[in-house]
Amino acid sequence: MAKERILVVDDEQNARVALRTILSEEGYEIAEAADGEEALALLSGFAPAAILADVRMPRMDGITLLKRARESGSDAVFVMMTAFASVEAAVEAMRAGAENYLVKPLDVNAVLVVLEKALDKLRLQRDTANLRERVRERYRFHNIVGDAPELQAVYEVVKRAAPTRATVLILGESGTGKELIAQALHEESPRQNKPFIKVNCAALSETLLESELFGHEKGSFTGAIGRKEGRFELADGGTLFLDEIGDISPAIQIKLLRVLQQREFERVGGTQTIKVDVRMVAATNRDIAAEVKAGKFREDLYYRLNVVAVTLPPMRQRKGDIPALVSHFVEKYSKAYGKEIRGLAPGTLNALLSHDWPGNVRELENVVERAVVLCKSTELTADDLPPSLRGPRPRERAPGALIPGATLYEIEREAILRTLEMVGGSTSRAAEILGISVRKIQYRLKEYASGSSPTRDEGGELEDGVGEPPERSV
Ligand SMILES: Nc1ncnc2c1ncn2[C@@H]1O[C@H](COP(=O)(O)OP(=O)(O)OP(=O)(O)O)[C@@H](O)[C@H]1O
Ligand SMILES: [Mg+2]
Repeated sequence: MAKERILVVDDEQNARVALRTILSEEGYEIAEAADGEEALALLSGFAPAAILADVRMPRMDGITLLKRARESGSDAVFVMMTAFASVEAAVEAMRAGAENYLVKPLDVNAVLVVLEKALDKLRLQRDTANLRERVRERYRFHNIVGDAPELQAVYEVVKRAAPTRATVLILGESGTGKELIAQALHEESPRQNKPFIKVNCAALSETLLESELFGHEKGSFTGAIGRKEGRFELADGGTLFLDEIGDISPAIQIKLLRVLQQREFERVGGTQTIKVDVRMVAATNRDIAAEVKAGKFREDLYYRLNVVAVTLPPMRQRKGDIPALVSHFVEKYSKAYGKEIRGLAPGTLNALLSHDWPGNVRELENVVERAVVLCKSTELTADDLPPSLRGPRPRERAPGALIPGATLYEIEREAILRTLEMVGGSTSRAAEILGISVRKIQYRLKEYASGSSPTRDEGGELEDGVGEPPERSV
């Protein structure tokens, strides 16, 4: 197996030759440079894993080389070489980020041992960086956290629809992340550097909404003091996000239909026809198909909007994503409030899983923000949660699963929940530690959340119920 590439940087030719001989014999691939500048010039082409550099050299010394290499993005480990008289320089080099140093005259064994150790460190660093990247990729699609199958399907549609101008209709209950998806569509599209304009159709009266969307000419209605460009014009070249589209009046529905069909409109009170290139994304938490059936929403407009539809799952259907979402929000709010919070105390996750989240991700985010604010230690506890979430179900009040004394199912639950708490909610890291699949963890979390468990069905239910007050405080 080919060994790593090492760059030897020394102004003394004898030293370079000696190192090349020793290291080549060990199987490393070697390049040489006589000073820092030569070394820098070699960096991108040779891409060394380690750099053995003399501290004192003409033109550019070893410490400057180290700094410049970092600036250019090299992650090579540095081992500095220094004459006995200048150990201070070596200390300075360590401060600047060198991994280790060797004192001249060089001892062959020391060179090999120090170098191998430094390379080990680099391998570990690169592995960790990879792992972190993988975890991030798994959970992050434009800052959207969660990898429930229903969500992955949504990401897939977003990726495929984004490059086109097709209108996308985003459906889902309040707080499920519709606006995040609309933004992701824009950011994934070739329009990403053009405006993303949002209109909340439910917040404005019919007259105001019309002028907001299409603009108006001076004096077109009471209060229209000057001419105003509408959101359609502002969004030209970009994306227009029509939020709460289910709330628009029949008159506006007709006007929208025309823009969707012909890409043109007139300002309120105006005669000039304005053409725009706008990608439209609409969202609603209403059952818009039902509104069409009931005759409240134009069917032709519905089909124009619904070229591509995505439906966001409610939180209660993807409780397996709760750990990842919680850890995302803990990070966000502990940064925002300047608090150092490492994770969740035992029991907290259980309480979060037991709740049904009618307000979906928005509710979860609020609960975590509140908990971060109230938190008195470095871990969120059940006491930091709103009272309605605090009461664990009787069964879960036992102080952990006792061995012996608990069923395997209970011990497994304890292991899964405690591991998740320890790794800050990352299901993939927990799966790695426990040696089971991410899928299994998510499946179990859903089970714990719904309160169903083999043990419950098979018995234990009776003893459990006796003497336990029905918890869930108000
Ligand atoms: N998957 C997710 N990952 C991270 N944050 C999320 C996710 N889903 C929603 N959020 C956050 O939850 C909050 C609510 O999301 P958003 O405003 O997109 O919901 P919505 O579906 O538009 O709700 P509404 O119908 O009430 O307008 C936002 O702060 C958003 O950043
Ligand atoms: Mg919204």
